[in-house]
Amino acid sequence: MKIGAPRESDPNENRVALVPESVERLVKAGHEIFIEEGAGTVAGFPDSAYTEVGAKTASAAEIAGTVDIFVHVQPPTSGEIGSLKKGSIVVSTMNARTDAELVSSLASAGSTALAMELVPRIARAQRMDVLSSQASISGYKAALLAANSIGKYLPMMMTAAGTIPPAKVLVLGAGVAGLQAIATARRLGAVVEAFDVRAAAGEQVESLGATFIQPPASEDAEGAGGYAREQTEEQQAAQREFLKDHIAEADAVITTAAIPGRPAPLLMTEDMVAVMRPGSIVIDLAAESGGNVAGTVAGEVIEKNGVAINGPINVPSSMPFHASQLYSRNVMALFDLIIDRKEGTLNLDFEDEVIDTMCIAHEGEARHGLGE
Ligand code: NAI
Repeated sequence: MKIGAPRESDPNENRVALVPESVERLVKAGHEIFIEEGAGTVAGFPDSAYTEVGAKTASAAEIAGTVDIFVHVQPPTSGEIGSLKKGSIVVSTMNARTDAELVSSLASAGSTALAMELVPRIARAQRMDVLSSQASISGYKAALLAANSIGKYLPMMMTAAGTIPPAKVLVLGAGVAGLQAIATARRLGAVVEAFDVRAAAGEQVESLGATFIQPPASEDAEGAGGYAREQTEEQQAAQREFLKDHIAEADAVITTAAIPGRPAPLLMTEDMVAVMRPGSIVIDLAAESGGNVAGTVAGEVIEKNGVAINGPINVPSSMPFHASQLYSRNVMALFDLIIDRKEGTLNLDFEDEVIDTMCIAHEGEARHGLGE
C-alpha cells in the first residue's frame, strides 16, 4: 500500500506523524512510503533518515493525491481534505467530538477517517492510545515548567549557608498527565500532594511518593472507561473549599483535570489563586479546553498579585522527538490492526470495537452521530 505523511500545516506543530523507525518497518513489509521534504526536521528526523530506510520524498499535494493512507498529527486542513485521493484513509487526531464541520467534510470527501483520540480505553488498545502517550509528555513538561519558573529550589538543599526546605507542588487531577507531573516533581525532590475525584488514583499517587489528599466524605467519581464523571455544583464547591488550604501552602500548582467531551472543570477560582504566595506558579494543562483555573489564558502566562498563571498549549509539540516517536508507534499499532500482515492489504473490520469507535467517517457518511 501507499502510505504518506506530509509536513504538518500548523506552524506551531513540531511533531511528525511517522518517524524513520516506523518507515523502515513499513518498507520492509512491502509498503511504499512518502514523506514531505522537511516533515521531520524540527523533530530531529532529517530527510536523509527517511530516505536511508527507503522512503520517497514528495510534495504535500502529491502525497495527498497518491496515498491509500494519509497520516497526520493534527487534523487535516480543508485544503488537504480537498486534495485527498477518493476513498483513502486518513489517520490523525481529529477533535471529532467537537469539530462537526471537519467530520462532515471528511465524509463528503469520501474519506475513511480514523480519529486517534477516540481509541477506546481497553487493555488491547493501549499501544494505540495517543491521549496517554502525549499526556505523559505534557505532565513531565509541566513539572519542568514549574521548576523553571519558581524562584526556588525544588529539592531540599543542605548548604554551608544553611538548609533550604524542599518546594511544595500540588497536582490537581492525577490521570496520565498528573501522575507523570508527580513523578517528575518527586524526582526533582519536591514534596508533592495530589488530588483526584477518582479514588483509584489514590494508590497510584501514593506509589510515587506523593500524598493523596481528599475532601472528607467525598465519593468516588470514576465513570466509563476509567474517566472521571462530571461533579455536581455542590460537590465542586465543597472540593474548592477543601483545596484552598493546600493551595495556599503550594509553591507550584499543576492542574490537569479533564472530562472527555466537556469543558474542563473549574478547580481554582480567583479567590483560590489569591491565597497563593507571590512568586508561586500555576501551570494549567487544561488551558486548551477552557482551563481549570480562573484567569487562565491559553498560550499565555499572566500574572495575578505576583502569581504566574501559565496556560501552555500543545505541550507535546515542545518535546517533538519523543512525542513523534510515541505517536508514530501508536499509529503503527493501529496499522497492525488494519493492515493484513500476510497480504499487505487493508482489513477494516467494523466488528472490531477499536475500528468501530475510531472510525468517524466512511463511504460518504459521518458515523456515531458526529458531523451534525
Ligand atoms: P483525563 O485527561 O480525562 O483527566 C485527567 C484527570 O483529571 C483524571 O484522572 C480525572 O479523574 C481528573 N479529574 C476530572 N475532574 C476532576 C476534578 N473535578 N477534580 C480533580 N480531578 C479531576 O484522563 P486521563 O488522564 O487520560 O485518564 C484517566 C484514567 O483513565 C487513567 O488514570 C487510567 O486509570 C485510565 N486509562 C486507561 C487506559 C487503558 O486502559 N487503555 C489508558 C489511559 C488511561
